[in-house]
Amino acid sequence: MNAYLFFKYLHSGLRYIVLLLLLLAIVSAWANWIGKKPYSEGQRKLNLFTMISVHTQLVLGLVLYFLSPFVQFNAETMKQHDTRYWTVEHITGMLIAIVLITIGHSRSKKAATATAKHKNIATFYTIAALIIVAAIVTSGRGLLGMTH
Ligand code: HEM
Repeated sequence: MNAYLFFKYLHSGLRYIVLLLLLLAIVSAWANWIGKKPYSEGQRKLNLFTMISVHTQLVLGLVLYFLSPFVQFNAETMKQHDTRYWTVEHITGMLIAIVLITIGHSRSKKAATATAKHKNIATFYTIAALIIVAAIVTSGRGLLGMTH
């Protein structure tokens, strides 16, 4: 297996962990925000691991960006869906989502009350997750990678 395929499988596989952690963090943040629950150590860790998982995707994605045959810079790039998506759209959407998760996590750390901590995770992680899901779906390869 060459380096391109190795990083692609790793990046592709880590997507399931990212999606699962995001789902758990979001459901728990909304439930605990609405239910006015304290901010537990378990939740703090879940929110942290979720952020670490997307930061890992960022590193793997950057490596892949240099290896992928779909990342091209020429006159045809923007005219074809695959090259446009992988050269421009995927990286743009995912970077915005990763920044939002980082901001939400940092604001949850600084917030003084448990409610404010839950609220920051709930809102920022939810918007980021919607962007991530939309980005994967528009790749045309299926959210869970079953279509190719
Ligand atoms: C939350 C963050 C991210 C998620 C969930 C994610 C998810 C994915 C998925 C599902 C694929 C398709 C894999 C396959 O078809 O087997 C993929 C491919 C790829 N991603 Fe990401 N990605 C993320 C962030 C990034 C970032 C930040 C970059 C660039 C810096 C990036 C660059 C790429 C590249 C270049 C490919 C390979 C396209 C190819 O050659 O087939 N990704 N990503």
